[in-house]
Amino acid sequence: MKLPQLRYGAVAAGAGIITMSILAQNQTTPPWAYALNPPATQGAPAPAPAAPDTSLKHVPGSSVGLTLPQTRDLFNPPDWYPDDHPAMPEAVMHGRRPDVRACGYCHLPNGQGRPENASLAGLPAGYIVQQMADYKNGLRKTSESKMGPPTTMLAIGKAANDAEVKAAAEYFASIKPKPWIKVMETKMVPKTHVSGWMFVETEGPEKGMEPIGSRVIEMPVDLERTELRDSKSGFIAYAPIGSIKKGEALVTTGGAGKTIKCSICHGADLKGIGNVPSISGRSPSYIARQLYDIQQGNRNGPWTQLMKEAVAKLTVDDMVSITAYLASRTP
Ligand code: HEC
Ligand code: HEC
Repeated sequence: MKLPQLRYGAVAAGAGIITMSILAQNQTTPPWAYALNPPATQGAPAPAPAAPDTSLKHVPGSSVGLTLPQTRDLFNPPDWYPDDHPAMPEAVMHGRRPDVRACGYCHLPNGQGRPENASLAGLPAGYIVQQMADYKNGLRKTSESKMGPPTTMLAIGKAANDAEVKAAAEYFASIKPKPWIKVMETKMVPKTHVSGWMFVETEGPEKGMEPIGSRVIEMPVDLERTELRDSKSGFIAYAPIGSIKKGEALVTTGGAGKTIKCSICHGADLKGIGNVPSISGRSPSYIARQLYDIQQGNRNGPWTQLMKEAVAKLTVDDMVSITAYLASRTP
């Protein structure tokens, strides 16, 4: 692994700035795909504010007003735009205590998802049901158990019952995914650090630019709106110059034996066929984690076997290119 991938950013904590190295966490997974909070805050879903802020918050185009604590409630997630999605079933809107956190909290009420989880909008219901069974049966794990959200998803998969899974699957399958990620090729990226399991731009004295290296850096277009879990404020993914074209070659031709043409199973438009999921216009961080998890055998459900040959020879650099290309397409 190249050194630039191992070092990044500075983390604002309290009064001072702590410069931290990923080496301190012994991370072997690609750090740009598996964003790890600084060790002190691991296990927390989001960084807690220093003092409770009880003022009403608003987002553009919504008449809803919510306090910060209300936007952080895993059993009653913020729904800023009640009219932009069908009526949510109980599992999506509230979940069930203690373990079934509301699907709509992490995946957002419209299923658009975030880099630290996954988009669910428009996935085939049968595919969602199969993934939940894989989580329940211990066949879908994560290569990075220090990353909080995937580890929480495993617990939710174990706890959710068949009726909850069916209702949530039908709900998310019925929603059409919207464009959500803009890919921009670049040599230099803003310096970032991880906060809330997501890359955010570093402000203050450490603010600046750094070479992108071989990484895809996905971050909120508008951090404030994303932190309020605004389901209409999307993401920008910075990718190395030339990566989209390299990814396109691998995806559409198989790269002379490196992998297999994805369209054979994922459809000519890569938006899925039958119960095979879409891979088009989805989070590059999420897609990279899946390619890596499948390659490492941590995702190993009955249908995952069909993916084994496609991922066997991929390097992490190939994953950078493939995910940049896939994310640049419409969902
Ligand atoms: C605490 C946050 C959280 C909640 C709440 C949550 N999920 Fe997830 N979910 C995740 C994360 C994180 C992932 C992606 C894991 C990874 O990166 O491998 C995920 C992945 C998934 C996937 C796999 C998507 C794919 O494309 O294969 C499905 C299906 C899913 N969740 C369904 C649900 C359902 C149904 C609920 C509600 C019962 C739910 N999730 C609640 C965090 C959450
Ligand atoms: C032989 C059929 C086949 C080919 C070829 C194939 N896939 Fe897949 N892919 C699948 C199936 C089936 C799944 C669902 C796996 C599961 O349930 O675990 C899947 C899942 C995935 C996922 C996980 C999606 C999610 O929502 O979590 C990604 C990412 C993916 N494929 C990418 C690719 C890419 C990139 C290529 C081409 C380089 C490719 N696949 C080629 C059959 C295939």
